[in-house]
Amino acid sequence: AVVARGHGRAKLILFGEHAVVYGKPAVAAGLPRGATATVQFSDAAVHQLTLRSALDEDVYARVECGAALDNVGVDAGDGERLCKAFAAILGHFDCPKTLQVDVTIEVPMGVGLGSSAALSVAVARGIGQLLGQPEQVDEAVDASERVFHGNPSGLDQMMAASKSGVYFYARAYDSELEVAPIEAPALTLAVCEAGPAASTAAMVEMVAQRRLRESQLIDSVNQVIGDTARAASAALTDGDWARVGELMDINHGALSSLGVTTRAIDAACHVARGAGALGAKLTGAGGGGCVVALTPGGAEDVLKAWAEHGWSGFEVTIDHRSK
Ligand code: MEV
Repeated sequence: AVVARGHGRAKLILFGEHAVVYGKPAVAAGLPRGATATVQFSDAAVHQLTLRSALDEDVYARVECGAALDNVGVDAGDGERLCKAFAAILGHFDCPKTLQVDVTIEVPMGVGLGSSAALSVAVARGIGQLLGQPEQVDEAVDASERVFHGNPSGLDQMMAASKSGVYFYARAYDSELEVAPIEAPALTLAVCEAGPAASTAAMVEMVAQRRLRESQLIDSVNQVIGDTARAASAALTDGDWARVGELMDINHGALSSLGVTTRAIDAACHVARGAGALGAKLTGAGGGGCVVALTPGGAEDVLKAWAEHGWSGFEVTIDHRSK
């Protein structure tokens, strides 16, 4: 093929963020949208990547990487890490010519929805397909995600490469993260951005520091989070939304104990519950970023209540039978 395309999915963590870093189970959903990369050979002297948002058509960053994988140029946005991630991906492939990569992202970036993993998977798959080297994709994505997040659990990239749906993750110590689809009825959620995001690596490090000071307590909190994920897996399968919502609230309280909530996140959770959501919690690394609320009857009322406070959001329905 002269032009290849790669896709990666955005994700929502429904239960278990942070505790998953310590080997606890988690529940996450692969969203119907994410990132798309178009990859083709170019005549330029350097590899080029352009990152656009499908939401506002803005070019977020344009980066270049020398054929010898030296970083030669960044122009807009958070280009430096993107440039290093691009080089990390390219380093796993045998490229006979330079490449032009155009990426479009269909969700807000850097707010806990897994945009970086979606991008990494889309770019690596596109390059792997163009060059006929699909076996290099997974390691290329690992390398790119390490550039973005330090030492991530692997949850984001697993979701980015999955089919749309809800998944239960469990990882025993010293073994690979495992993933099993949850046969849940269609799940309707409201998601909003309750403030500027923090860096995932910084939030994970903050939890690690709290755990150094209070190891027994934090291990207990992580255990509670893992237990909510396990209970939620059963409640989701049964379509027991009241229980799923209550478990989200419990999970949120535990995340507050880890120190990763903010005033705006807590307020957005209260507003959602007040507008009829059955439960609400932060999603992703916290310190800012997104809140997810359970709205089986539709997200309209919650989105309206959030908008009155200045938080813009969207409704998403996750149905493993749809795609
Ligand atoms: C970030 O989306 C999820 C965290 O659990 C970090 C990770 O799993 O690597 C906070």
